[in-house]
Amino acid sequence: MKKVIVMGAAGEVGFAIVEEFLQAGFEVLAPTRRASELEKLRALLAPNLRERLAVYGCDLMLPQDRMSLGQRAKSFSADGVVASLGGWYQDGPLERMSLENWNKALQNNLTSHFLAAQTLLPQLRPNEKSFCVMIGGGAAFEHVPGAAHVSVAAAAQLMLIKSFKAEYQDRDIRFFNPVFMTPLVTRSRGRHSIQWITASLVGKMCVAFGETEAEVETVMPIHSLAMAQELVNAWEKQ
Ligand SMILES: NC(=O)c1ccc[n+]([C@@H]2O[C@H](COP(=O)([O-])OP(=O)(O)OC[C@H]3O[C@@H](n4cnc5c(N)ncnc54)[C@H](OP(=O)(O)O)[C@@H]3O)[C@@H](O)[C@H]2O)c1
Repeated sequence: MKKVIVMGAAGEVGFAIVEEFLQAGFEVLAPTRRASELEKLRALLAPNLRERLAVYGCDLMLPQDRMSLGQRAKSFSADGVVASLGGWYQDGPLERMSLENWNKALQNNLTSHFLAAQTLLPQLRPNEKSFCVMIGGGAAFEHVPGAAHVSVAAAAQLMLIKSFKAEYQDRDIRFFNPVFMTPLVTRSRGRHSIQWITASLVGKMCVAFGETEAEVETVMPIHSLAMAQELVNAWEKQ
């Protein structure tokens, strides 16, 4: 059975990704700081899906948690890792931002991706075609007043994944950072446009990327629901 580790699984987008991997028959390991919340979401799944999801309490920022996660990931022996980490919020202009808030934004949106990849990539199943996906947002390309701290981290995330790809060129790992240019329709979002990409389609895209033989650009802006659907359809055929 194929296996994947999903970081940020208790999150709005992360849990939709988990559901799609479970639907596709994967076994999923989900390290999270919010294990009890994730257990509640797990309990809502159909029994045949629920039994393939393992919730694992872990705070990436704690060295001892990273060490135990590395060991757990080694024995789990995943085919891939998906990171759906960080979030978007406005916090005023850079001119008035406190160092504390700046550091927090970089920690949640950038350092979390760095630590997830650093901890988990060496533990992927050796000698097999494996994959790493980091979920990105349009903030990487667009400035929104009051959210520059998120944009800076999101833009740096694109170089982060390219750097891991370069460092791992001897290992058969495929890297992908889709950059979603619309807000995502998640479980708790109310009013939304029908043009917006759904979190479940993000999950389907991660599954399709994990399974496709197609050549895929490492960093790819995804501009619309139609574009996301087209890519998934194309990858599912290859
Ligand atoms: N929502 C959207 O409309 C949208 C649009 C485009 C792109 N995206 C992208 O989708 C991704 C997830 O967004 P979301 O809306 O699902 O956010 P979310 O609901 O807030 O979930 C974010 C996840 O990030 C994890 N996280 C945050 N700070 C962390 C830290 N310091 N250490 C470890 N884990 C940390 C949390 O993990 P724990 O479970 O451990 O707390 C949480 O599950 C982000 O990369 C975002 O840019 C979202």
